[in-house]
Parts: sequence; C-alpha cells; structure tokens
Amino acid sequence: MANQTATENLTAQRIVVLDFGSQYAQLIARRVREQNVYCQILRHDLSADRIAELAPKGIILSGGPSSVYAEGAPQCDPQLFNLGIPVLGICYGMQLACEALGGKIDHTPSREYGPAKCSISDQNVLFRGLPESIDVWMSHGDQVSAISDVFKSLAETQTCPYAAIAHRELPIFGMQFHPEVTHTPLGGQILRNFVIDVCGCEGTWHLGDFAHAAIEQIRSLVGKNRVICGLSGGVDSSVVAALLYKAIGPQLSCILVDNGLLRKDEQVTVIQEFTNHFKTDLHVVQAEDRFMETLDGISEPQEKRKRIGYAFIDCFKEEALKIKDAHFLAQGTLYPDVIESGADPDGPAATIKLHHNVGGLPEELGFELIEPLRDLFKDEVRRLGLELGLPESLVWRHPFPGPGLAVRCLGEVTREKLKVLREADSIVVNEIKAAGLYRETSQSFAVLLPVQSVGVMGDARTYDNAIAIRSVKTDDFMTADWSRLPYDLLARISTRIINEVAGINRVCYDISSKPPATIEWE
Ligand code: XMP
Repeated sequence: MANQTATENLTAQRIVVLDFGSQYAQLIARRVREQNVYCQILRHDLSADRIAELAPKGIILSGGPSSVYAEGAPQCDPQLFNLGIPVLGICYGMQLACEALGGKIDHTPSREYGPAKCSISDQNVLFRGLPESIDVWMSHGDQVSAISDVFKSLAETQTCPYAAIAHRELPIFGMQFHPEVTHTPLGGQILRNFVIDVCGCEGTWHLGDFAHAAIEQIRSLVGKNRVICGLSGGVDSSVVAALLYKAIGPQLSCILVDNGLLRKDEQVTVIQEFTNHFKTDLHVVQAEDRFMETLDGISEPQEKRKRIGYAFIDCFKEEALKIKDAHFLAQGTLYPDVIESGADPDGPAATIKLHHNVGGLPEELGFELIEPLRDLFKDEVRRLGLELGLPESLVWRHPFPGPGLAVRCLGEVTREKLKVLREADSIVVNEIKAAGLYRETSQSFAVLLPVQSVGVMGDARTYDNAIAIRSVKTDDFMTADWSRLPYDLLARISTRIINEVAGINRVCYDISSKPPATIEWE
C-alpha cells in the first residue's frame, strides 16, 4: 500500500493517547485536535522506547473499564514516566500514574457516575484561567485515596479527595474526571492548557493546510496515472473525489453503482451535485436488476449484507476494468476505521465491525490503494469538504449504510416494498428538514416493518404494513440516543405517511437508544 500520510509536517507535533479500553479514547483525540494539535491513538502497552521514537510532545493515558489491581489489568510501560515527555492520566490513566509513582487506589463503595462540582485549590498551569469551582463529569469505580509525596493535589470534589493531581517536579498530571466529554464544559480549556502550555504544541494542525499537503502528495504519488474512485453520495467518498479532482482533475474516473437500494431520487441528486462541481469522468452502473436477483427470497440480515457486498464488488470490478490505464483506487477510509481494523501496528487493535467496508477489492484488481482521509475523523472530513467547496447539503448529509434500504426493509426485499419505504423515508427526511432539525439529528430515516395490522380508511377496513421512524443523535455512532422530535412534527410525518403512502396504515416512533438497540433495525 502506498504511504499516503500527506501530513508529515502538520503532524510533526503530536500528542498520543494510550488507549486502556476507554469508550472515550477517540473523543479525547478529537478534543485535542480541536486545539489544532494532531493526536494519534496508540496501544496502551507500546514500549517506552517506541514512544520515544515517535517523539510526541505529550502523552495522554485514557480511562478504561478495569481496576488497576485486577489481574490482567492493562498496564503501560512504567518507563514512559521517565521519558521527560509530559503525561496526563485521565481516570484509569491517573490511577496507573499513581500506582507507578506512589499512591493508593481504592474501590469506591458505589460506582460514581454523573456530574460533580470540582473545587480547584491550586490553579497550576493545567487549570490556568478557570474559575475556582467547575462542573465535571465523573465515571469511575476506583479512585485514588492517597498520594505519595511526589504528587500534590490540585482539586477535589465532595466524594473524591484527589480529583486532579500534579507531580511536584515532573510534568505529570492526573485527573479523576473526564475533561473530554461535553458534560465537563471547561474540559476543552483544560486539555488546551495541557497540550499548548504544558506540552508546548504550537497548534499546527489545520485542515486548510492538510488539503494543500494532501493535494501535493496525491500529485506526486499518482504522476500521470489514472485513479478510480467509487462514489456513493455520502460525505467520505465525495470528499475523497473532491480532493482527487483538485489534485489530478481529468485523470480521475468515478464509479457510482445504483444498486436499486438508494433513497428516493438519490441517483439523480448525486449525479447533479457532482457534475455541478466537477467535470469528471463519471460512470453510473445501473444494477438494480442484479441486486434484486441476488436478494430474491433472502430475509436474513447478514446474508443480505453479504450478497449485496458481493454484487457490489462484481459491478464495480466490471466497470473498473473498462476504464483504461487505471492504476490507483481511492477509498474513503477514515481514522476510526484505521484504529478499529488494527491497520496501524502501533494502534489499539479492536474488533472489526463485521458489516462495514468491503475489503480485498484493490488487491484483486491489481490497483494500488490511495486513502487520503486515513488520518481524519468524520467531523474533520466534513470541514475539509467545506474547505474544498462542497455544498453544505452534501457535507452534512446523514450517513447511509452501504447495503442501503435493504437493511431498512425488514425481511425479504422486493421492489414493491422498496417503493413504499422510499416514499415514507422521503417524507420523514423532508419534514425533519422543513422543521429545521436535520442538522440537530445525526441520522433520521424510515424502516418498513412487515407487520400487518388492522386500520380503517374511509369506510373500509385495511390490513396493511407499518412504518417505524428512527431518528438518533450521536457523536460517534457507537452509542446513540433517540431524538426528542416534537410531537407536532411526529404527527405531521405520521399523517402524511398514512395519507400519501399506499400500503401503510400505522406509524410508530422508535424510542430505543444504542446500546442496547442498534441504529439500523437489521
Ligand atoms: P448500527 O446499526 O450498527 O449502525 O448501530 C451504526 C452506523 O453504521 C451504519 N451501518 C452501516 N454502514 N454498512 C455500512 O456502510 C453496513 O452494513 C452498515 N450497518 C450499519 C449505520 O447506518 C450507522 O450510521
């Protein structure tokens, strides 16, 4: 795979987060990047030597679900405290620092979870510019109950005597609360104080510069060759295409596979939006029949996904092979994909989400892979899209799963059911947009339930299907809460769907959060 790190100068000053299994590790990294400082997530057990080689300006030890004294609890290399690089331990990370450098960690009788008032007794550099009392978010079982003489206390809460501590001589800090979550409103300032004032980062991570560097890098990598880019209408592939177009213009060919599982008018919109912005070589593969054939009689969700994945590869391959002189294939891999797939040998190896991303295609076709977004989080991709001149409507489009409407049409997928779902979905999305709530929700759509129930319409009895409305708010799509849509809006959506979409006589609102439910129904 080609090395596409287009950002070497921009990432020279970096903070690393060692991940001890925290649900917030990515959030910490994003918050650091909001300070215009590049931040990378690494394995918790990376050796101090390797960390020294990477030469970060600062190290953040994340929280984690374990107890530091538990057998098999994830540890860091204790030598990292001797590297002279500033360290900030958050929650479990603080407990590790105390364990390594002297202190006592106790199991609190009840797990502390939720808001707390934190009194700052020592402004120190970490709390510079903050008021004496701040709101913080706690989420821990254990806490530090005694510190050794090398540490001093900086802050406390009613139940936590060492809410924040600092080493007396070394640039080592710890905090029991979570500065990275929005429930700690001044947490951004604390992280800023750490990365800028303690670590001395200059804030060189800017997406405008990134675009510039990435374009230069793509040009030198690609030379006079042709690049193929799959287009889905989603943000990631559009931003990749925009970046490539800026870099190599006419050497770019895009492929859009219409699998018949797209939303209402989606193909037309994507083509329009795209050709309005770029005069690129766009290949649209009309493949509805092929997908319907492979889905015929199949109702098991994973089997549907698999068949759709294979059909997509076949269609894409056929089209790609028609494009002469293509040497590269561009993909919209993002940083969370890199972390979660274990593609970074220094990164935390997590399990790959089975349903996401089709692998193997570039190798099979003999293409070299270009992944210009592999250093970026989703919110950065959006901002980059705007930098590159993509319209807000495209940049802020809700994510749409690769298997499309097939996973929202429960059970067997047929053309008739898709037609019904498409109409209902378009009403849900358009009404949410009209109410000005599209940007406030993270993903909103309709699901067709193959459940027949009785109704009356006019004087006639009906026995029709139901539509579920799903609308969630989330930062990372790994957890999500259902959107509190106004009743009037829900009423309007329901009335319109029942009146306008033949075959539906009942509408329900999905009020499950994730976990335990998932965002998609299949
Ligand atoms: P779940 O349903 O797992 O969804 O809570 C989390 C996010 O992932 C999207 N999703 C998919 N995306 N292929 C995709 O490309 C898939 O098979 C798939 N399944 C879920 C989902 O829309 C949500 O944004």
